[in-house]
Amino acid sequence: MKKITVNFVLNGKPVSVEIDENRRLLDMLREECGLTGTKEGCGVGECGACTVIVDGEAVNSCLVLAASVGGKSVMTVEGVQKPDGTLDPVQQAILDNHALQCGYCTPGFVMSAKALLMKNPHPTRDEIRVALSGNLCRCTGYEQIIQAVEDVASGKYNEMPAK
Ligand code: FES
Ligand code: FES
Repeated sequence: MKKITVNFVLNGKPVSVEIDENRRLLDMLREECGLTGTKEGCGVGECGACTVIVDGEAVNSCLVLAASVGGKSVMTVEGVQKPDGTLDPVQQAILDNHALQCGYCTPGFVMSAKALLMKNPHPTRDEIRVALSGNLCRCTGYEQIIQAVEDVASGKYNEMPAK
């Protein structure tokens, strides 16, 4: 398999990664970059567990060729908290609302919510539902997750402004 080098910005830092040319973004992030917060659920674009943000847009990293992020900015769940370890408001609100059980889906929900809030800091409940509609949770259900994002959108976490 032909090797290529992908240069991109990962969680705010420039990186250069050598990969097989047909590598998925999901695999490059987890294996070459060692960031295992991004999960594989279905592998076919149905569950959202692999969601990351590329140039401000939430994408399913299982469907994206790693080579395509050359020159772009990629944010994973490892990149949302502050350097001192303070959780992002979305993460904190998910904890406060008991909006996870096994947690396998949670990184994907966090990234979809972040992508929404970066574009629209005060979405309606319906806008939140639409933004999270590509993310599946098999154990918690959706009400607490939507409530968590709504709490952030309402300004409840304004003392922890979203990045
Ligand atoms: Fe990518 Fe399910 S693993 S959408
Ligand atoms: Fe288990 Fe969502 S918390 S799949």
